[in-house]
Amino acid sequence: MSPKELPPSKNLVFGRTFSDHMLRIRWTEATGWQAPSIEPFATINLSPGATVLHYAQSLFEGMKAYRHDNGTVTMFRPDMNMKRMNTSAQRLALPAFDGNALLECIKELISLDRQWIPKEPGHSLYIRPTLIGTNGTLGVAPPSEALLFVITSPVGPYYPRGFKPVPLHGTTEYIRAAPGGTGAYKLAANYAPGVVAQKSAAKQGYAQNLWLHGPEHWLTEVGTMNLFAVIKDKDGITELITPPLDGMILPGVTRDSVLALARNHVSGVKRLEGLPDVIRVSERPINMGEIIQSSKEGRLIELFGTGTAAVVTPVDKIGYNGGDVIIPTGKDGMGPVSKPLWTELVGIQTGDIQSDWNYVVAQ
Ligand SMILES: Cc1ncc(COP(=O)(O)O)c(C=O)c1O
Repeated sequence: MSPKELPPSKNLVFGRTFSDHMLRIRWTEATGWQAPSIEPFATINLSPGATVLHYAQSLFEGMKAYRHDNGTVTMFRPDMNMKRMNTSAQRLALPAFDGNALLECIKELISLDRQWIPKEPGHSLYIRPTLIGTNGTLGVAPPSEALLFVITSPVGPYYPRGFKPVPLHGTTEYIRAAPGGTGAYKLAANYAPGVVAQKSAAKQGYAQNLWLHGPEHWLTEVGTMNLFAVIKDKDGITELITPPLDGMILPGVTRDSVLALARNHVSGVKRLEGLPDVIRVSERPINMGEIIQSSKEGRLIELFGTGTAAVVTPVDKIGYNGGDVIIPTGKDGMGPVSKPLWTELVGIQTGDIQSDWNYVVAQ
């Protein structure tokens, strides 16, 4: 009844402004999921004993709604986010839900607040579904009460002034994930401990952490993005490499999409202009030794992160063992493999390229 004023798009800072409404769905062990409701964006009342506050019984998702030039509003592969969210819920013993039904509710929420999707190119509405344990009992146990809520936030382009490659700190003193841990799930508890590591990288002049695992310093992820390296093998074949989903890697929607586009290019299903004709697409471990060796031999072509927020983030150096490993970057900041992949992905998301990856929210 009292809509807020939309801030000018140029003043948007990621996650600071929220739209007028939110979706709330309560769950109790006794009743199961209750009727969903779309309400004004407002505070949540919690018992100070709520398990989310004590034991981090919390998980979330991140996706976007894009407005096309013709006014159509779409989301990008949201079924993948629903699937991942249920997997995260299962890992925390939080209740599972019907992903299609939640998507219908999110569709209603976005349709209602569609004026909150900024019209300027590169802008979108960030969507943050969250599921928390809410029962006010201090025992460490599966929650008997939970709340699923969804808030949305208008966001601008990640790189308003063109691509800016980022320097990474090869982090070995902290870990993000470990075998048997929770790195493959989008749990709130995975993110809070990363803040100190990020601060430490920033203090040393780097933009993000490159999370390295084990004594061999296996590359895992970049900050809160998946990671890709492009290397020419000794026979001159271009290899696009990303670490395998071994339990330490978050199964990113962008990661999966990049792999699918590259594989479709290779198989001829859809060739992408500018991509080398022959590429080997590999989900395999890669360590710092291989990065340094290929860099020394002039075979390292590029390294980039992928995620919903920035789609592709090129990397220009890795601080490692007291020195910097320099990573080549293209003329406009992006390398020869990431550029065509980025162009295709963004083309789909903005509606310039037809794709069944787009889920229509409103016409
Ligand atoms: C730790 C981590 N890795 C990777 C990603 C990229 O995933 P997606 O492409 O689904 O945004 C994210 C962001 O969601 C993340 O938080």
